[in-house]
Amino acid sequence: MNIIFIGPQGSGKGTQAKILAEELKIPHISTGDLFRGLAGELKNEVDSYINQGSLVPDELTTKILKERISKQDCKNGYILDGFPRNLNQAGLLEKITKINKVVEITLDDKLAIQRISSRISCKKCGTVYNLVTNPPKRKEICDNCQTELYRRADDNPDAIKKRLETYHNETSPILQKYKSVLVSVNGDQEIDKIAEEIREKLR
Ligand code: AP5
Ligand code: MG
Repeated sequence: MNIIFIGPQGSGKGTQAKILAEELKIPHISTGDLFRGLAGELKNEVDSYINQGSLVPDELTTKILKERISKQDCKNGYILDGFPRNLNQAGLLEKITKINKVVEITLDDKLAIQRISSRISCKKCGTVYNLVTNPPKRKEICDNCQTELYRRADDNPDAIKKRLETYHNETSPILQKYKSVLVSVNGDQEIDKIAEEIREKLR
């Protein structure tokens, strides 16, 4: 089963994709996480886009995505979180794989901005927390691997504004393309409630 998660920044794509991937025992592939895991020259190039809230060029993004989904652990399916983000990427994806379901998580911008502004994440294991809605047990320390938590460089007001604009202008139009396999859930609910709704709708 190949599944895509689509939603505005801060809607909980990463949070929900991680839960579902563990349940289905398939990898959770976030292009944002792949970019954040790069090193050296390429990382500097990618960071220059990400930290301003711009999309990384399609060619580079698609190359990295293609390499990741060709790995052995993807043979029974995967969850894509953050790819595709525009019609061009959706077209390129169509050429390399079949998508079975698309999960849209809706959230209004005001709430999305609030959530992103209080997000902290673990660099080592990727667990995402929220200082207000989903705090770690120990202040700024990951429950999972005891690593110090950090704030993403692109979670600043200017970049957040730009990322949300890009979502509305370039990403949300691709939902039309997936109409026949699309399920939509309201992201303004408790994390467990949303996970349950996604499970139900994918059944
Ligand atoms: P990416 O890492 O994908 O970031 P994003 O799109 O901005 O999305 P977020 O990770 O901010 O939001 P999310 O929906 O995952 O929310 P989360 O679960 O963390 O991409 C980063 C950058 O990489 C892009 O801007 C771009 O530059 C580049 N990039 C990536 N993919 C690309 C592509 N395909 N093409 C080109 N460039 C690309 O939750 C948010 C917060 O809310 C957390 O604190 C969480 O704990 C909390 N929370 C979650 N659910 C709930 C809930 N139900 N109730 C209360 N709090 C909640
Ligand atoms: Mg994310």
